[in-house]
Amino acid sequence: MKKTLFILAGVVCLLATACKSQLDKRIDATLQQMTLEEKARLIVGTGNEGRWVSETSYGDMKNIVPGAAGTTCPIERLDIPFIILSDGPAGINIDSTRDGVEGTFYCTHFPIGTVLSSTWNTQLVEAVGRCIGDEAMHYGVDVVLGPGMNIHRHPLNGRNFEYYSEDPLLTGKMAAAMINGIQQNGVAACPKHFAANNQETNRMGNDVQVSQRALREIYLKGFEIAVREGHPKALMTSYNKINGISVSERHDLVTEFLRDECGFDGTVMTDWYGGDHPEEQMRAGNDLIMPGQQWQMDSIVNAVNAGRLDVAYVDECVRRILRLIYTSPRNQEGHTYDNNPDLVAHANVTRESSTEGMVLLKNDANALPLSQNVKQVALFGCASYDFIAGGSGSGDVRRAYTVSMLEGLQNAGYEMDPLLAARYNDFVKKSIADNLSKVTARFADMVRIRPDEMPLTEADIAEQVRRADCAIITIGRTCGEYYDRTSSDFQLSSVERSMIENVCRAFHAAGKKVTVVLNIGGVIETASWKHLPDAILCAWQPGQEGGNSVADILSGKQTPSGKLPMTFPIALSDIGANANFPVDQTSENVSVASRRVDRGERNVDFTRYDEGIYVGYRWFDSRQVEVSYPFGYGLSYTTFDYNNIKVKQSGKKIKVQLDVTNTGTMEGMEVVQLYVTAPGASMDKPAKELKAFCKTPKLAAGKKTKVEMTINTDDLRSYDETAQQWVLEPGTYKLHIANSSRDIRATETINLK
Ligand code: BGC
Repeated sequence: MKKTLFILAGVVCLLATACKSQLDKRIDATLQQMTLEEKARLIVGTGNEGRWVSETSYGDMKNIVPGAAGTTCPIERLDIPFIILSDGPAGINIDSTRDGVEGTFYCTHFPIGTVLSSTWNTQLVEAVGRCIGDEAMHYGVDVVLGPGMNIHRHPLNGRNFEYYSEDPLLTGKMAAAMINGIQQNGVAACPKHFAANNQETNRMGNDVQVSQRALREIYLKGFEIAVREGHPKALMTSYNKINGISVSERHDLVTEFLRDECGFDGTVMTDWYGGDHPEEQMRAGNDLIMPGQQWQMDSIVNAVNAGRLDVAYVDECVRRILRLIYTSPRNQEGHTYDNNPDLVAHANVTRESSTEGMVLLKNDANALPLSQNVKQVALFGCASYDFIAGGSGSGDVRRAYTVSMLEGLQNAGYEMDPLLAARYNDFVKKSIADNLSKVTARFADMVRIRPDEMPLTEADIAEQVRRADCAIITIGRTCGEYYDRTSSDFQLSSVERSMIENVCRAFHAAGKKVTVVLNIGGVIETASWKHLPDAILCAWQPGQEGGNSVADILSGKQTPSGKLPMTFPIALSDIGANANFPVDQTSENVSVASRRVDRGERNVDFTRYDEGIYVGYRWFDSRQVEVSYPFGYGLSYTTFDYNNIKVKQSGKKIKVQLDVTNTGTMEGMEVVQLYVTAPGASMDKPAKELKAFCKTPKLAAGKKTKVEMTINTDDLRSYDETAQQWVLEPGTYKLHIANSSRDIRATETINLK
């Protein structure tokens, strides 16, 4: 049997090589016939007019998949077809209606990146990726512009919601799973934004000033894992500069690191309008310039003609673009698409995955799940009625609906006061209209159109105490592309604070419990008010089925198993990166337009990553700074014991095995985290670093499972800047088996030479 499989695999390999060489021959043949102008035209892609106004918008390209982010340019003379590129990380982002066409073109809004990483479940993330890739296939999209995988360097980055974590290992593993899922459909995934794209303020002009060590260990590491384990067919460079040069113009990053070191063999594209020097982009190996403009084509042609740019660079880029085009779904024989994905099946996937990504932050005296006696729920907070599925900008999805908390709880059989619901709905409508009138309805400003919180009187609350068995308050935050969040967005507003204080006081006086649900895209302040409610559930922005997913947790239909993929600090000033982040530096709108003028303004034109490798828990744990909720933290309705821990080393592999037993009374899943403390004698090392993790399957009460985590000793190395290489420090390493970065259940040691 084994032998047959072996022979079969060999045949598949031979066939693949034969096909590959046929493809290479086709690429060579096409390339030979292309004029320099045609090569430049292929390198410079087109944008979707309307959303992306581009000089090169080509003929009717914008009508093929309306709302898609762009296409490559077809070259009819040589029969070079085009491909379609579309966002994004939480689902396919295309227009839901089309001029003169009947019917709708909705896509599923899956949970945002932060929810997915909170599941710590790579299989589940892969399943979500499979659905996103499937919708891409059904809508005729060839390249999915995602996953987003930048590091959460600071909680106020406006796009953290699209990204996974403050930790590069968790980021890389999640991204690899997502890429594998998407690409199982034949479409290409395009992880982004490579690299160190950690703020929206002046995102096109900002220069990240970062040490080689931090770059390697924190900002490139996730991409390295994603490339090695996910094999993406495409990858997007970021807008920002790194140490003075735009990423898309850096040969050391795009060619030497990505291709030579990590083995990336796909097509690299710019972020939309990223980079200033097409000549340099060619030299760096950034193949596709999206969505390009005439001056960029001219610049490539002129540089070659003037002898400044070797045409061999251009040819390499064209080769890699042609490979992507020729292997894309729409250019395979018999390819069709029906604009009819199975949105019902995908709604189930999004409901399940967002439930698994919700993090139970507090649960005093088993306030949750709601007791069987709870029938009437007092539902407070605008976001309960106007629930936030995800963030805005390219990471948004034109979904058919969003299930609100009100609807989710109703679907689960709870009753809410219709009069209060009507008041909230009216208030939300009016507040949105008011806020809309204050912004120019630009794409970028959509993030600002959230209702304010509705003030409640004592009588309002008293009426609900009389009617209801418990209270649920939802705190909502939105965020999105183009803007960083502000410090006031991090804090509760005075209306929100009074709502929590007054509702808790009145309900507790009547012996009734209060739960706060956080419907947020990024971290908010919790330390000053978390003592007030009985329970806090961080539901994040969980996609279009959000209300149902929250109800699944509150009712006890599902046991929470999410763990924080980032730290919740007590105050912004506690964060290592805080002094070097544009906190409230929004006096001038430098986020939206491309800002090519450099006024030398700190944190706007340049940002010094002075904290080095001390990002997130690496900072808080090494400096022993108290936090509100640590990295990796999350409660369950049940409890788990870790036993029978065994550590085995063979060669470069360190295997940690243990038994996880559900010692509580409800079914549940557990995330086991493996942190390592290096000797730190000869090198500066963080107090601990996550080196592996795993999630158990659903375990019934009393059941036990064996889990295994593997570390490669190469992963314990640090980047030595002087020697310019990775170095393994010899000595005794501590392996912590943990439930969060601050809840270590057992420690083993191992000696490395
Ligand atoms: C974003 C990318 C996105 C692209 C195309 C840019 O503004 O930064 O993430 O993929 O637009 O929509």
